[in-house]
Amino acid sequence: MTQYIIHGGRELFGKVTVSGAKNAAVAIIPAALLVDGVCRIENVPEISDVTLLFSILEELGAKVRLLNRQTVEIDCRSICSTQPPYELTHRIRASYYLLGALLGRFGEASVSMPGGCDFGVRPIDLHEKGFTAMGADVVTEGGFIRATVETKRLHGANIYMDQVSVGATMNIMMAAALADGVTTIDNAAKEPHIVDLANFLNSMGADIKGAGTDTIKIRGVEQLKGGTYCIIPDQIEAGTYMAAVAATGGQVLIQNVIPKHMDCISSKLVEMGVHITEEDDTLLVRRSDPLLPTSVKTLPYPGFPTDMQPQIAVVLSLADGVSRVTEGVWDNRFKYVAELQRMGADIKVDGKTAAITGVAQLTGAPIHACDLRAGAALVIAGLAAQGETQLDQVQYIERGYENMVGKLRALGANIEVVDIPDQIEPEKHIV
Ligand code: EPZ
Repeated sequence: MTQYIIHGGRELFGKVTVSGAKNAAVAIIPAALLVDGVCRIENVPEISDVTLLFSILEELGAKVRLLNRQTVEIDCRSICSTQPPYELTHRIRASYYLLGALLGRFGEASVSMPGGCDFGVRPIDLHEKGFTAMGADVVTEGGFIRATVETKRLHGANIYMDQVSVGATMNIMMAAALADGVTTIDNAAKEPHIVDLANFLNSMGADIKGAGTDTIKIRGVEQLKGGTYCIIPDQIEAGTYMAAVAATGGQVLIQNVIPKHMDCISSKLVEMGVHITEEDDTLLVRRSDPLLPTSVKTLPYPGFPTDMQPQIAVVLSLADGVSRVTEGVWDNRFKYVAELQRMGADIKVDGKTAAITGVAQLTGAPIHACDLRAGAALVIAGLAAQGETQLDQVQYIERGYENMVGKLRALGANIEVVDIPDQIEPEKHIV
């Protein structure tokens, strides 16, 4: 078991460079299955979810060649299976994208129900509704979703999303890229990674219009050819470092960001008394004054992202007054609160809302990460806290943050990574 030992109480200073967007990469890599040629993808984050997807594609017969740490060539001209192995797919949420990509290209796919972080019920009925509308027969049996089209080619359809869904929007976009005719997705998600996937597919020859708006139109094409594409910077990674500076104090230049994508996060931090100066692709974040309380509600983009909810809650737990954080996307995304309470935070959760009364300081404690963003939030808590924090279950963090420890150390954080033999693993506390 790996643990992070964090000695907190230090302000952060310096520069940090944001990596490629995880939630774009985990869609674009499966989307390479649609391409009858070589895709060269740049700015790929070096994270374990991406490594797992490379292994899955290789198992299906793809050739995956890393040109350097952030650039990969994927050649899906020799795919020999449409059934990725359960042992790999059940470990990652984004494995649902294999369904849309394989179904779109080969007219069949069989993929295990996706895994990923546990925020309560995470249905995929909207993905299935989209595939069915496009002519697929979709059945779920024995923990697998099997989708087939008798004619081997989906047809265009008008699909209304009953709820805004990032995954369903992207999956239907992939499936529709090679379908006969036009597919329209109404009430589509608008996250930056939706636009990035559309741009990737268009750069390979697809015809997708309207990504980033409520309505996306996909005119199916005969074939996608290879090409080169560069993934956008990670909005949530950037936001996580902004929240870290807000919590600890200090001044950090966040490099390789698209400032427009950060507006929903920046505006809340500014309300809390954080100074943010925007340049072309950088944000200078400075916090020296006491933090002010505020209210935050998570919503689909351009609202405040649910994937920043735990990190902002840590910052608010140090603000001077009472704040409210309302989760508007997931049913159960406050599991990390029990860990923060162990560090002295004063947070009361009632349904989907947390009332946070700021405390003068947090104190280090043994805690564990219960999912990716909760893990990142607890690192921030450890950095801001007085004393030593021992954070375990850090494999969650490594699923989605490239070299978080190295990047924070470069800003002056005191974090050690220690390997603890399994036999003396501390007992997990029940949350
Ligand atoms: C993506 O999950 C992200 N994951 C999540 O980020 C993120 O929290 C979420 O979008 C919202 O932004 C990836 O991109 C791999 P949804 P996804 O479909 O696509 C309901 C992270 O930390 N819904 O937009 O699975 C659902 O229950 C991860 O990086 C249905 O009802 O989320 C939820 O309430 C965690 N039926 C809402 O829609 C469906 O078929 C939004 O979910 C699909 C979703």
